[in-house]
Amino acid sequence: MARVLIAGCGYVGTALAERLVAEGHVVWGLRRHPEGLPPGVRPLAADLTDPGTLRNLPSGLECVVYMAAPDRLDDEAYRSIYVEGLSHVLDALRRQGQEPRRIFFTSSTVVYAQANGEWVDERSPTEPVHFSGTRMLEAERLLLGSPFPATILRLGGIYGPGRVGRIERVRRGEAVCIDGPPTYTNRIHHDDCAGALQHLMAHPQPEDLYIGVDDEPADECAVLRWLAAQLGVPLPRVERSADLGPRRQRGNKRCRNARLVASGYIFRYPTFRDGYGALLSCSAP
Ligand SMILES: NC(=O)c1ccc[n+]([C@@H]2O[C@H](COP(=O)([O-])OP(=O)(O)OC[C@H]3O[C@@H](n4cnc5c(N)ncnc54)[C@H](OP(=O)(O)O)[C@@H]3O)[C@@H](O)[C@H]2O)c1
Repeated sequence: MARVLIAGCGYVGTALAERLVAEGHVVWGLRRHPEGLPPGVRPLAADLTDPGTLRNLPSGLECVVYMAAPDRLDDEAYRSIYVEGLSHVLDALRRQGQEPRRIFFTSSTVVYAQANGEWVDERSPTEPVHFSGTRMLEAERLLLGSPFPATILRLGGIYGPGRVGRIERVRRGEAVCIDGPPTYTNRIHHDDCAGALQHLMAHPQPEDLYIGVDDEPADECAVLRWLAAQLGVPLPRVERSADLGPRRQRGNKRCRNARLVASGYIFRYPTFRDGYGALLSCSAP
């Protein structure tokens, strides 16, 4: 039985907390508004951007998972949550003389700027061009430079119950396919985010970095067309990439999950067809 703090206990954090509580661990869910956390998860109201609210973390923490996300998509919000918030938690742990066995941080595959369909893994160059990747990388380095053993999980796009924007865009006929070569996207079902973290937390000696995506990077257009076929709606309209302007400048890379799989993690939803298929069967009339 371990004492675990989940800092930023939201969509994935709550799923992880429930799994850990079911295993008998003592779990605190930290967020600004922890009122709705499920039974068994101990609510901890604090603001990661305000060190004063972190003075009394639960004692004897063996594991900390930092998985907060900003409210806004701008550099200031990213710096504040990923870099400063993490720094405040590390300072608070140090000041309180805590010695967690390991700190986990959920980063993102946005740290990879590769845009020509390249395969990337944990050893690939990280040269983000967008502030989101830059701040994530800054936070990763901060954590790896701290005195605590650490593991980073770089997640792809998270989908799952309640996060079905892609399905809804296809259903409403608003999804767009871009002509030309494939644009690869990488994703992970939220059950697998929680499952992979739970797995790594139980691992005797996890590495310091993993990519957290499913087995199959997929052409975005192929995903949209598959969804349209499942939903029985018209295929997404096709736009010429030349007409899209800056919208075209999205990532296009294939993230490899081999290290996570080699560590022993078995995906519940290894492809988008498995994950979206399960979501569609839940929401079928
Ligand atoms: N969504 C994706 O596709 C994606 C992709 C790659 C990586 N990730 C990363 O994966 C992790 C988990 O994602 P998620 O979707 O589960 O996140 P989420 O639910 O959007 O957010 C996590 C929680 O952070 C809390 N939070 C935000 N600001 C806070 C603050 N100042 N102090 C304390 N808590 C704060 C929020 O609760 P309150 O509002 O109650 O404070 C929220 O419940 C995040 O680190 C995210 O960056 C996500």
